[in-house]
Amino acid sequence: SDSYPNIKRDSRFKELSAEDVKYFKELLGGESAVVDGINQDASDDLEGFNADWMRKYRGQARLVLKPESTEQVSKILKYCNDNSLAVNPQGGNTGLVGGSVPVFDEIVVNLSRMNKVRSFDDVSGIFVADAGVILETADNYLAERGYIFPLDLGAKGSCQIGGNVATNAGGLRLLRYGSMHGNILGLEAVLPDGTVVDDLSKLRKNNTGYDLKQLFIGGEGTIGVVTGISIICPQRSPAVNVAYLGLESYEKVQSAFRQAKKQLSEILSAFELMDAQSQRLYQKATGAKLPLEGESPFYCLIETSGSNADHDSEKLNAFLEQVMGDEIVSDGVVAQDETQIQSLWACREGISEASQHFGGVYKYDLSIPLPELYNLVVECREHFEKNGLMGETDDFPVLDVVGYGHMGDSNLHLNVAVRRYDKAVEKALEPWVYEWVAKQSGSISAEHGLGLAKKEFIGYSRSETMIKLMKQIKDLYDPKGIMNPYKYI
Ligand code: FAD
Ligand code: MLT
Ligand code: ZN
Repeated sequence: SDSYPNIKRDSRFKELSAEDVKYFKELLGGESAVVDGINQDASDDLEGFNADWMRKYRGQARLVLKPESTEQVSKILKYCNDNSLAVNPQGGNTGLVGGSVPVFDEIVVNLSRMNKVRSFDDVSGIFVADAGVILETADNYLAERGYIFPLDLGAKGSCQIGGNVATNAGGLRLLRYGSMHGNILGLEAVLPDGTVVDDLSKLRKNNTGYDLKQLFIGGEGTIGVVTGISIICPQRSPAVNVAYLGLESYEKVQSAFRQAKKQLSEILSAFELMDAQSQRLYQKATGAKLPLEGESPFYCLIETSGSNADHDSEKLNAFLEQVMGDEIVSDGVVAQDETQIQSLWACREGISEASQHFGGVYKYDLSIPLPELYNLVVECREHFEKNGLMGETDDFPVLDVVGYGHMGDSNLHLNVAVRRYDKAVEKALEPWVYEWVAKQSGSISAEHGLGLAKKEFIGYSRSETMIKLMKQIKDLYDPKGIMNPYKYI
């Protein structure tokens, strides 16, 4: 492939034939379940499955399969395994590390037609559903019943809960509800040889040996296809408040976070960071008016969720009075209604889209100890100023460096917004960013995973021993290596 000059197609994998396609069409019983680029030119229809959200990675799949049941997934994988056909599991294709699209001609197994809720218990809050249910659909279903899906992120309208599991997505409220590793109670998954792993437990507690489902959580589709999930969901809070605050320094952001934990404690449900550059970029890309009049170097979005509106407002007001009085926060606004809540959140959630709006984006999703977290953004800007790649005019590939993220989880999103993808920019960033993070004993991926983007760099966050153990697991579950090949493992 020209797209990936440094990766070679693995010759162990068979190329698809018309006969293979015939088998799949018969199995799935209909044209709508198959996008067939073997027997006809289907490039336009295949594009959405081959190209990722950032338009940075592009595969050459000529076949997309959309199974409707776990049994169909099992038969597909068994056939692929028996015939050495490589497979790329795919959910909503919103992944940000190139893991969700093929590299060469892997068959895309897309879960979008497995979209049924299986059960919900309104006493325990345990929700069981097919992997292909869209996150927002799941959350709306739960909202009608007074519950909330314990994960929320900007891509909720297209990502699937199976994809969320496969990436161990973190999102906007991890500080309140915890990770998928903690909330998932059970999984149903299919191994490459067709074995159905039937671990769809609805038990909160279950200490009966190895917790094997954890391997699929954050496994990024490298050992099997997740087909069903069981998850514990908390009550939806009737009282939600959102404040958007301006601050003069990163020191003050840290003080505000400390105060928020202290004073808002059990009702704090999000503490997000945005720098001025990220808000300017959002403003420029969308034309939206920013919430505050003057510009501050930093902004925080604070959300509270609780059961008593008066109680929560009282707490939030006391917090705001204190942080403004102590000059930790210099300016701020509290949403007065649902529309305002949405528009404040849009300033945070809209950064992803804005970051690539002017051409493209290099995204780094990092865990860094809080005191050091923002230094990376500052040093990254200096780095680009020195090497002459960033500037105001079209001559420069880099438009801006923006920093934002899940402050409450020590998770920084460093985004380098570019006018065009450019090897020189990539070279300036990698491994520079990873070295920086390793020096702080951080993680090169807090939440997006490794995929293809960080395949070469896992060693910055994992020891030789850990990588070896991962490879052993991969070999055990997927001895022929057909699951999401060429990616991190
Ligand atoms: P895909 O993108 O289709 O796939 C992602 C990976 O999972 C691939 O490796 C794929 O092979 C594998 N996979 C998908 N489905 C399955 C399955 N059923 N079985 C096995 N493997 C599977 N991520 C965060 O963590 N936090 C955020 O705050 C966040 N915000 C985002 C905001 C925007 C605007 C966008 C575009 C992305 C954001 N992401 C975030 C990244 C992305 O949305 C998540 O990684 C999401 O969980 C991916 O789900 P998906 O269904 O789109 O999976
Ligand atoms: C987010 O939190 O907005 C996403 O994880 C970050 C991104 O788009 O890089
Ligand atoms: Zn994020």
